[in-house]
Amino acid sequence: MAWPDGRSPMSAAFDGPYGIDGRTGCPEIGGRGYPDGVLFRAWEYRAGPPPVRTVTDRLGRPYALVSGYAEVKSVLADPDTYRPDNALDAVTPIPVPALRVLTRYGFRLPPTLANNGGASHPTIRAITARALHPDRVAAQRPWLEALVAHRVARLDERLAKGGQVDLYADLVADLPLLVLARLVELPDSDAVVVKEFSRAALELFWAPLSPARQAYLAEVVGRYHAVLRDFAATAGGLVGELRSHAHGAGLAPDVPVAALFFLLVAGQETTSQFLTLLLHRLAGEPTVHSGLSTKDIRVEDVVEEGLRLVPPIVTWRRVAARDTTLGGVAVPRGRGVVLWLAQAGRDKEIVARPDDFAPGQPGSRRHLAFGAGAHRCVGAHLARMEAAVVVEASAPLLHQIEVVRAPWCPDNLSFRMPDAFVVRRARATGAADRRHLPGEAPPDRLARTAPG
Ligand code: HEM
Repeated sequence: MAWPDGRSPMSAAFDGPYGIDGRTGCPEIGGRGYPDGVLFRAWEYRAGPPPVRTVTDRLGRPYALVSGYAEVKSVLADPDTYRPDNALDAVTPIPVPALRVLTRYGFRLPPTLANNGGASHPTIRAITARALHPDRVAAQRPWLEALVAHRVARLDERLAKGGQVDLYADLVADLPLLVLARLVELPDSDAVVVKEFSRAALELFWAPLSPARQAYLAEVVGRYHAVLRDFAATAGGLVGELRSHAHGAGLAPDVPVAALFFLLVAGQETTSQFLTLLLHRLAGEPTVHSGLSTKDIRVEDVVEEGLRLVPPIVTWRRVAARDTTLGGVAVPRGRGVVLWLAQAGRDKEIVARPDDFAPGQPGSRRHLAFGAGAHRCVGAHLARMEAAVVVEASAPLLHQIEVVRAPWCPDNLSFRMPDAFVVRRARATGAADRRHLPGEAPPDRLARTAPG
């Protein structure tokens, strides 16, 4: 992860000091600037003014870092000035040996959804959105409720016997994938294989990496991309529709493969990350899970506060298509723009109590966790349904637990990727949340893909 001098390629040089936010204990940006590596651990920081800053990374590339709600929203609402073309670019440029691995597997990612600012986007998006239509999502709810209830009951028994449970691995890790497979025809792969591929893809494209790690990840990603390509050649359902559309519209034949690639990453990994982070946050909010159990608090309101406060996608990128100005800062054509979505949700402009978990507070739903505008998440309805089912069923589990091991997240520009969340029934002596602090040695069991 570290470069020869111990810094990552997106360690940022900023223009000024930083202090500590008295309410959250997080380093607050606004005075002197950011410490090294902030862009890859953005969830550990709070932005102060100004809402737009120019950041130079360790490879000498400048970015506009946007933290103000109004400024983030204005970028998302203007796809002509701020294009999505760089959404899936590797933040650590992929060196030739890793590129060779990808080429060997025939890896190609033509623009389809998140990184497609072209004329083909609206139709590809509309076809995808049909597969995730609210009616189709609602039809999955009873099945998901039964599955989650079954899992929660078994976990409850284990807790009652004094055991430990990992609410990531034992409850939520594979749930979004299982639901997605009921909505969209997917390759017949083990969930373990899909999770390994999707986490490897999030690391390859969004993490600070050494060349050796890139070569390893390219192997994992390339190998599964070849599986997707074989599958997409004959698959039905959404992929079949995309294949017919690409053929009829004269688009690249691997458009359905690229769309499926993104859907498999965005459509399940994000939601299992969100559920882990939300359950962890709720474990420290006893009045909220009590209110859920007594029905004094609406589960939908809890999900929205979760999206606002612990979004799984912390930042998202755009690129300036022309010379422009944002929040008084010059943004020349071609400049990468990092939208700090998590920070926009804590802007005092949208909620009165930005750092409190206050379900139903006015403005709670105005977060930008799903983006906005032409590329706004098409899976938002599905993610909200899954989160509501899991939170509702697992709220009773959260009473009287203690955190044995809080989620730990590896360095990443955009995705949280928590690795585990281990709990047990609270003992009389009281609970201790072993929150992993910046600078503390990482925990021993890392679920991220590792070369062994
Ligand atoms: C909590 C879970 C999720 C979060 C926080 C999330 C967040 C996001 C964000 C920030 C974007 C970029 C929006 C923009 O550029 O304006 C996005 C795009 C997208 N998401 Fe999600 N997402 C989640 C779950 C899902 C699910 C469950 C699916 C599908 C099964 C999905 C499919 C997509 C697709 C296809 C796009 C690209 C849309 C386009 O470019 O037209 N996402 N998501």
